This record gives sequence, C-alpha cells and structure tokens, in this order.
Amino acid sequence: MPISNRAHHLPPYIFAQIHEDIARMEQDGKTIIDLGISDPDVPPRPDILDTLCTWVRHSDSHRYPSYRGLAPLRQAVAEWYLRRFGVYLDPESEVLITVGSKEALVHFALATVNPGQAILVPDPGYPSYQIPSALFGFESILMPLIAANHFLPDFERISSTEWSRIQLGFFNYPNNPTGAMAPEEFWHQAIELAHRHQWTIVSDLAYVDIVYTGQAHSILEYAGAREVAVETVTFSKSYSMQGFRLAAMVGCAEILEAFYRVESQINAGVYLPIQHAGIAALRENVTPDTLATYQKRRDFVVSSLQHRGFTVETPPATLYVWLPVPKPDTDQTFVSRLLHQYGIAVAPGVAFGPLSDRFIRIALTKPLSVLKEAFARWPAMTSTAMTPENPPSRHP
Ligand SMILES: Cc1ncc(COP(=O)(O)O)c(C=O)c1O
Repeated sequence: MPISNRAHHLPPYIFAQIHEDIARMEQDGKTIIDLGISDPDVPPRPDILDTLCTWVRHSDSHRYPSYRGLAPLRQAVAEWYLRRFGVYLDPESEVLITVGSKEALVHFALATVNPGQAILVPDPGYPSYQIPSALFGFESILMPLIAANHFLPDFERISSTEWSRIQLGFFNYPNNPTGAMAPEEFWHQAIELAHRHQWTIVSDLAYVDIVYTGQAHSILEYAGAREVAVETVTFSKSYSMQGFRLAAMVGCAEILEAFYRVESQINAGVYLPIQHAGIAALRENVTPDTLATYQKRRDFVVSSLQHRGFTVETPPATLYVWLPVPKPDTDQTFVSRLLHQYGIAVAPGVAFGPLSDRFIRIALTKPLSVLKEAFARWPAMTSTAMTPENPPSRHP
C-alpha cells in the first residue's frame, strides 16, 4: 500500500518505542521500572474530578465544544495570568484553549512558517519541537543548550542568513530536560531579536508550577513580548491532568488568530466537561504537598547518583534529572545496559535532540519507594562496573 515519504522517514516517537520495549520485556517475565516517560503519578485534586463527573452527566455536555474554548475557561486563564504574573490578557482575543500543548505546539508551525523557512529548536528540547520540520518540511536550526551557558541558547551562533529564514523559535523555561530556569535578561534579548528579525517566540511554560528554587516567569511580563510572542500553559504537569488533554495558548492576538484559523480546521475543541474541570483546577495553586513530593524524589535521585560517582547538579525545577553518561558510553549504550542488566528504563538524550547523545533523562514521576527500588538495583557504577546480569524476574 502507498505510504508517504514523510511517514516513511519519520523516526518512531521515542517514548512510544521505549514503551514497546518495556512491554516486550514484561511479557518475558521481567519487572521493569520505567523512569523514562514523564507521566505524573500524583492524582488530580478531588474537586477537579468531581467537577468532571458532574459535567459528564449534564444534558448538553456531549455536544461539540466551541473552537476557541469555553468563555469561562478563557476568563479563568486570563484571571490566573493576572493573579500569577500581573499580566492582563483579553480573554476574547488573547486566550485560546487547545487540545493539550503537544498538539498545539506542532500545529502552531503551520500557522507561522512557510516551506523553505526555519524554526529555532533547542537541543536538548521537548521532542515535539523537532516534529514540525520532520512532518512539514521546514528547516530546524538547532540551539545547543549546554551547562557552561546555564542551558540557555547562545544567539551569537546564529548567522545573519539563518536569521533571515527563521520564522519561529521554541523556548521552554523551566526547562525539560535540563531543569534550568531563564533569567530576565534572556527574555529581553530574545524579544529584542524577535522584533529585529521578525519571528515569533513560543514560550512553553509547561513546568510553571514545578519549581523548587526561585520562581517561574511568563514572557508576557516583559516589554515588547505581546507583539511577538505566544505562550502555552498545560494542565498536564501542574494538575496531573495529562490524560485530559487540556492546555491554553495565550499572547499576541494577531498570531493567535492565525493559529486559530489553522487549528479550527484540524481539531474540534476539548470535551466540555474537561474544560469545566480546567476551570476548577485554576481556582487553586499546585499544593505544597505535591511540590514537596517531587522535591523529595529529586533530592533522593540526585544524592543517589552522586553516591554512585556521577557528577550531577541539583535541578532547580521540573520533573527531571539530566545526567551526563560516563565515557566511553553513549546515551544509547548506557540506556540499553540499564534496561537489560537492571530493568530500569530511562530516556536517551537523543530523544531530545541529536546533539544530546551523551546524556540521559531520569523522570521523577514515580513514588519514592519505586525510585528506591531502582537505585537498589543500580550498583555503584562506572561503565565498566556494570555486569551482564539480567533484570529481576517476576518469576524467580
Ligand atoms: C516542555 C513540554 N511541553 C509540552 C509538553 C506536553 O504537554 P501536554 O500534555 O499538554 O501535551 C510536555 C510534556 O512532557 C513538555 O515536557
């Protein structure tokens, strides 16, 4: 049967692949601890679930939702921005509700980039930033994020001919996978460059609430942002609503209108009870208990790695530890040995960009007891200290 070149050449979604590997090993009787994918295990607040259930039974809830999102939810997002950042948003023109942020981030390029034009993509970065280029034939210009530069892009590396092709740039602070935060000066620089070279900034604020030290900021707090930037906020990480598929895109009204023209041809909006649950979610901030839970896990993972001889910084934010692998390993060899010898799945750095093949990412979305079990399996380690054992079997 005919298969498009696009589908043929598209690499498999790496987390789906990890999932399949784990399922295969589990079928063979192995117990695998999956620290690869970030899938918050802390349950959603009871009032969010109650609201969802109430609205599921409402007589009109099965109907097509509005394309822009429920007006009261857009209002709630605008109020949240005002409360949280002191940023005023017009809920009519500066807020759109989207089916998750992953979907919106990929489709957004269709509204802002033409064939032959380019997108600035952080490496490492959330994998979906690379996908518009792979799917729609745009060019990705990689921005290496390295520890020496505090995991911020170095804009000096971008040439004037590259600037002339760039239409869009993805930025994500607090950052997945490095855990880094961005200082105010960085945003001023990015906004100035977006004005000068006429491209759109997407600030992905997925981890706005998962911050242990300092405070996350919205790009819209800074002068000039509203004309060149949009921002995505997802309900997935803050409220553990990742299966609900609910997010908002806010910011420059003109750009959002272009995105709406594209998105309303692709998606029919979010199920109404989920939008009502979103309104309930925004009434309260992330609970200190949730944050303390993640922070304890982070501290345990970092200290366990340090005890095993790894050099690793404590990330100030997010749900990840970004770990350089010991030479001569690559991420793939390291990941493969962790999986096959100890039954621990982690994400290889290349999932986050081709330049990141000397790192792995450990997710903190498993209970402390599970993390303890993982590290009990994982001995003090240089690459040569790993022995060819098999992961524990469920049927010893
Ligand atoms: C940086 C970043 N952006 C976006 C997303 C996607 O979130 P959503 O569940 O809203 O699609 C993730 C999910 O892990 C993420 O890490």
